[in-house]
Amino acid sequence: SAPRHFLSIADLTPAELTTLVRNAHLHKTAIKSGEISNQLRTSLAGKTVAMSFSKRSTRTRISTEGAVVQLGGHPMFLGKDDIQLGVNESLYDTSVVLSSMTSAIVARVGPHSDVADLAKHSSVPVINALSDLYHPLQIIADLLTIAEVNPTSSGSLGLEGLKIAWIGDANNVLFDLAIAAMKLGVEIAVATPAGYSIPKEMRGVINQAASTSSTPGKLFEATVPEEAIKNADILVTDTWVSMGQEEETAKRLTAFKGFQITTELAERGGAKENWSFMHCLPRHPEEVSDEVFYSPRSVVFREAENRLWAAISALEAFVVNNGKIQ
Ligand code: CP
Repeated sequence: SAPRHFLSIADLTPAELTTLVRNAHLHKTAIKSGEISNQLRTSLAGKTVAMSFSKRSTRTRISTEGAVVQLGGHPMFLGKDDIQLGVNESLYDTSVVLSSMTSAIVARVGPHSDVADLAKHSSVPVINALSDLYHPLQIIADLLTIAEVNPTSSGSLGLEGLKIAWIGDANNVLFDLAIAAMKLGVEIAVATPAGYSIPKEMRGVINQAASTSSTPGKLFEATVPEEAIKNADILVTDTWVSMGQEEETAKRLTAFKGFQITTELAERGGAKENWSFMHCLPRHPEEVSDEVFYSPRSVVFREAENRLWAAISALEAFVVNNGKIQ
């Protein structure tokens, strides 16, 4: 039967999303205390996971390679100059060949259609390691981070009722985060400069995600940061110039003026007293001040480390358990 792929948070039911985050937490706790089960530690033994990356990466590369090793497998990193993909060979041919010799493909691409095409022709699971539309592994790590810094007395994930304010560019990380928010009953308020808002088609995908939940979240959009920040528990941003947009740098830096997250902006906007700050990294100083980024409110390095536990959880679900998320 066809393998189950993981290209976006939209591919998951709310219960599956919760389970992936819960498993990331359980594996983090077990492995950190030296209690990884023999079954998990050897679950990818003798298996190769191809990592086809057409763009630079620190966190996604390290967390995926580390996760494959933790599960006893062999990560095979294939950078853009290492294989024929896109230069001498079509996506179809590459996908068929890669999947004939490996147990999974983790792919970082430009256009989302590239990872979708890889998946279409692959006989093994394909996991999206970032495309121009989605970044699902990042979001598993982000939800784990949010759960850790907002613990509930019941021990549940406890995201329902929280408010996230996204200040800055409407990009791939936001799209999957908003989809997750809709599935988990989280309010997400997005402030982007006029002209940089969520594309209409993506708004439809996010609204569709809400319809998959019995306790859907809410999406609010503004062009003024303060309107999104009001009563937010978590302030999030990302680079204003994503990989591939370098030619627009000057235009974007002008358009995003006033969107830098600072303590003063958070207070003026009326964020909750104990608000925390998140960023998927890499970070540039224009989108967040040093005094926020390096403050005790900032959970960015915990968020980065959580990429490892998210990768273990996703590999377990999609590669070890063939897409059965339990
Ligand atoms: N957050 C993230 O995906 O980082 P890298 O681009 O370094 O992998």
